[in-house]
Amino acid sequence: MFRTPLAIWLVLVAALVAGSAMATTTTVPAWSLIPQPAVLQPAASGAVRVADGDRVVVEANGNQGAYGIARRFVARMAATRGLHLRVHATGGHGRIVFHLDPTVDIQPKASYRIDIGQGQIRVSAHTLRGLFYGGVTLGQLLTPDAGHGAVRVADGSVIDHPRFAWRGFMLDSARHFQSVADIKKMIDWMALHKLDVLHWHLTDDQGWRLQIKRYPKLTTIGACRKVIGPDAALTGGPDKPYCGFYTQDQVRELVRYAAQRFITIVPEIEIPGHAQAAIAAYPELGVTGRRPEVSTDWGINAWLYAPDQRSLHFLENVLDEVMALFPSRYIHVGGDEAYKAQWKASPEVRARLKQLGLKDMDALQGWMIDRIGAYLDAHGRTLIGWDEILSGGSLPKSAVVMSWHGVSGAVKAAEAGHDAILSPSPVLYLDHVQSSAHDEPPARPSVESLKDVYMFNPSPAGLTSIQANHILGVQANLWTEYMPTFARDQFAVFPRMAAWAEVAWSPAAAIDWSSFIRRMPAQLARYQALGIRYADSAWAPRFTLARQGDDIQVALSNQTGQGEIRYTTDGSTPTPHSSAYTQALELPANKTTMLRAATFTDAGQLLAAPRTRHIDAASLLTRNSDQLATCTQQIPLRIEDDRPLHGSRPVYKVDIGNTCWLWKNAPLDGVRAITLRVGNLPWNYKIPYVFDSVVARPQATPGGEIDVHLDTCDGPRIARLPLAGAAKSMLQTTLEATLPELHGMHTLCLFATGDPRKGTIRVIDTVRLSHAKP
Ligand code: ACM
Repeated sequence: MFRTPLAIWLVLVAALVAGSAMATTTTVPAWSLIPQPAVLQPAASGAVRVADGDRVVVEANGNQGAYGIARRFVARMAATRGLHLRVHATGGHGRIVFHLDPTVDIQPKASYRIDIGQGQIRVSAHTLRGLFYGGVTLGQLLTPDAGHGAVRVADGSVIDHPRFAWRGFMLDSARHFQSVADIKKMIDWMALHKLDVLHWHLTDDQGWRLQIKRYPKLTTIGACRKVIGPDAALTGGPDKPYCGFYTQDQVRELVRYAAQRFITIVPEIEIPGHAQAAIAAYPELGVTGRRPEVSTDWGINAWLYAPDQRSLHFLENVLDEVMALFPSRYIHVGGDEAYKAQWKASPEVRARLKQLGLKDMDALQGWMIDRIGAYLDAHGRTLIGWDEILSGGSLPKSAVVMSWHGVSGAVKAAEAGHDAILSPSPVLYLDHVQSSAHDEPPARPSVESLKDVYMFNPSPAGLTSIQANHILGVQANLWTEYMPTFARDQFAVFPRMAAWAEVAWSPAAAIDWSSFIRRMPAQLARYQALGIRYADSAWAPRFTLARQGDDIQVALSNQTGQGEIRYTTDGSTPTPHSSAYTQALELPANKTTMLRAATFTDAGQLLAAPRTRHIDAASLLTRNSDQLATCTQQIPLRIEDDRPLHGSRPVYKVDIGNTCWLWKNAPLDGVRAITLRVGNLPWNYKIPYVFDSVVARPQATPGGEIDVHLDTCDGPRIARLPLAGAAKSMLQTTLEATLPELHGMHTLCLFATGDPRKGTIRVIDTVRLSHAKP
């Protein structure tokens, strides 16, 4: 009798406390800024409230650029927070002031400062660029959470400047291209991270994407290729080519759009390799006299421009149009992965080498790059190339080296007196997965997590301070072999852009992972408001299963350890009120439980979308390809099936150099059967120096088979599953075989026979063991 009223009373008190706290809240959200500014000076107390109808005043002596910056800031606040401010060109009291003045009293090196207090927020800068960055920071001050409308900003000052001048992002539009509208979105989002260079990879073996008026075949022929695997879903069918390029008008529009956001577009025209699409258009530019197709192979192709006057003349003409389109001081000319087999085989090229008195083919590439560098120099531009340009031996001092072989290229470049940009593989290569989970989209398998990117140190060890001054900055690269759509691009880029933007902008002393990750929920809320389809891999719940008597023990975790994992077992979607995960769950093995889990902040903001696992005894006996190891690491990839044409397609982890997988510690007690789900993929790889080492195994039956061996790949064969039936299907096929009586835990080695280079790779999607015979 007594209990119930007390319980109700407690609930009422709790509701009253919560209600009054909400009505009279005095907590002002902490500043949550990315990249972290150089100097933060929060006041002890006080806040400025910004609400609908507040005035934004521009004090800039009528400078139209400043007015444009304020207008775009106001539009962004309306679109992303539903906060409707009014811009005034000048005069009167503003809740917010944008103040442009070359003589305003801020440190000369500061980009901008923001002063918050006495009912006003004042952004001051010497330059339009500084004013723009101040506006970006102010936008973040006004979006500290996922809320809408009015917001309180804690008093204090922010004084800021970048650590590095080059804060780059490389977009590969050759392998897969993006629409002009989507590139504009990417430029907007880069600007909101204070990035300032869009390195645009426009030409490669698989497509030439830039209109060059003097050479129309570069785009009538070079911008079209036959589809590669899943491209058929984009073009409408396997017989419809993949074609597209940017007109010069579109390029001018993008250059203008980027400049308005203080981003320089640096074009890349690849020389002398990655030139197959150009040579498909103009075969006389190559050394064989033959016309290749525009490449349908990922990897490294052998078609190089001939190192002669004709190619140089062509390239100079192309660069004339490139320089007319792109005002950038820097022009990137590639230089990477120029595999010299065709040059070495050509009597003309060998004669040229001799005539020029050069020691080897690398020196001949150096001669070509040197000639192009001199041409750019004569036109007031500066050459950039990938770090292979250092191997030619004759690089002009003015050339800038982009280091992708780790940071070693930058160290060598700086030692030789060149400026350098750090864009090391693999950590800043965004075509790598962000976690080892099976729900990651196709990408290269070594994990480069949000934290890995954040912890990248842009101060290579061993440089003197003079050499360190040669490091211009940091760049991350998005290669798009496995990014056919803009949705995939976004997933690969975000939220990792937040991490490398902070590395590139913030002072070394401000780099602090625990601080960064605390600032991420606000950033994710901004991404949502902007419509960015970011990866939630850093917060996604992951399931670890173990047998525990009659139960299955399930541990839940996430990559960063941030947030609260909440779960349901009744099939419903987890909410901030679902059970919080605190210790391993014990679920029955003899029935199937649908376990769903999602990650939330304390405030109930969703950090990771729900993940679902069906848990029962069979789940311990099943592995997908991501849960298997590859036997070797020749060319491990996570690639997508080319079928079904529409809808989601399976993704497989496979070493395309050796289609062989290991299930380590498979529990084999009482197991009597094995079931495989397998797929067929087209072979679209040409990687010269590994092509010859691709493992081909003899086939025992006409369609080949998957063989299963015990303990090692040379151990006893315990099953053979013929693929003849599977070979007839473009979709997945299920194969079954009985197993001999086995005991204990053993490694299973599973490999496909046959030679994938003949056209088809056989891949394993899942392996399932069962106690019943099929
Ligand atoms: C490169 O990744 N080939 C620069």
